[in-house]
Amino acid sequence: MKEKFISIKDAMKTGTGLVSVRGWVFRERGSNKMKFVVLRDSTNIIQCVLKKEDFEKQWEEIDSLKIESSVEIVGEIKKDERAPNGFEISVKKFNLIHLAEDYPINKDVNEELLGDRRHLWLRSRKMTASMKIRSTVLFALHECMHNLSYTEIQAPSMSGAASEGGSEVFEVGYFGKKAYMTQSWQFYAENFINAVENAYAIAPSFRAEKSKTPWHVTEFWHFEVETAWADLIKDMEIAEECIVHVIKKVLKENLTELEILEADIEKLKKVKAPFKRISYKEAIETLIKNGHKIKQGDDFKSAEERSLAKYYDDAFVFVTNYPMHLLKFYHGENPKDPTTGTNFNLLAPGIGEMVDGSQREPDLDKIVERLKKAEIDLGASDWYLDSRRYGSVPHSGFGLGIERFAAWICGFDTIKDSIPFPRTPTRFNP
Ligand code: 4AD
Ligand code: MG
Repeated sequence: MKEKFISIKDAMKTGTGLVSVRGWVFRERGSNKMKFVVLRDSTNIIQCVLKKEDFEKQWEEIDSLKIESSVEIVGEIKKDERAPNGFEISVKKFNLIHLAEDYPINKDVNEELLGDRRHLWLRSRKMTASMKIRSTVLFALHECMHNLSYTEIQAPSMSGAASEGGSEVFEVGYFGKKAYMTQSWQFYAENFINAVENAYAIAPSFRAEKSKTPWHVTEFWHFEVETAWADLIKDMEIAEECIVHVIKKVLKENLTELEILEADIEKLKKVKAPFKRISYKEAIETLIKNGHKIKQGDDFKSAEERSLAKYYDDAFVFVTNYPMHLLKFYHGENPKDPTTGTNFNLLAPGIGEMVDGSQREPDLDKIVERLKKAEIDLGASDWYLDSRRYGSVPHSGFGLGIERFAAWICGFDTIKDSIPFPRTPTRFNP
């Protein structure tokens, strides 16, 4: 067909007259006189009606149509209360592009099989909506950083030493040597800022964590920001500004997708800066008050983090100044109480930790001493400390998990619905 095709969304906006649309068969049913095809494209679905009397020559083909076959349609669009979303196309011209085989996804398919067929499951309305929202999240983060005059700089995904260290690092063969998949861009960033001052990246981070929770994947997308001359407060303000900007953008661009997902739009509209800020000490007190078995000095379990956000108006909450023994060697010391650090975690209701940030320790001697005490050998990462050897400056940064943020926006109960191909300890194909 040499038609000018438009999207289903635009066809519904047109509302009357002849339209040309194309896509995939979402549902079909028929009799020996009529065929009802619900057509899907990336924007919406629409019911199309074909009458046998209009398609005598093509009827065999039309009658044998299967789900996910690709087709082109020209027809008269009109409002119809009985149709799935209020519009129907009475088909005048029909062109089969490809007759699909029996589609291997139906209501009887279990979770495991859906994982095997993930590449097909992405065609579902839920996953399509999720991927569109994810795309807006990424775009809006770039936009926010651009507006704030940040420079985007990439770091390598493989390097000769583990960045954050610990046991959660993937090893890969590197021409007879060992390399490690990056866990974070931070070490590179703390050096970048001595050049560009304000730096950010959005890239995958890898964590060899065996934990099979709804909130962990082994490869996640990491939005990381590092800012020269910034203190902890500034760091939190930047994180806050980015989050608010993204939510505004999603509300503007993705109302259709949010509706498909039945997401809580009011929850999104309520998000405003500044977010609530509490200290670690207050957070522990609140948990104890609410019956949790935890004491000062303990680290939070993720369920406690999820509860905390609930106790504070069911909204984002910054928890600041954790005890130094829970922090890493690069975290700065709180000048008001050096037993605590200049760090924060931003907790999201239902999700828990969504952002992790800090003002970094700028002093080389302090860092070297902490590394010695913790028996950490930076090894091939010793170059990291050059940021403190040549013109060290106060600086801060943070990392935000894209999937946790997107899942919170969509109201999902697992971040696996916010990434096209989730990697878990047991799933790395397709
Ligand atoms: O808390 P994390 O490990 O912090 C860092 O990597 C710092 N170096 C970031 C920085 O300061 N530049 O990770 C940061 C965020 C977490 O708050 C969480 O949202 C997400 O990354 N995250 C994960 N998301 C999905 N699956 C996992 N396994 C994740 N681990 C961390
Ligand atoms: Mg963390």
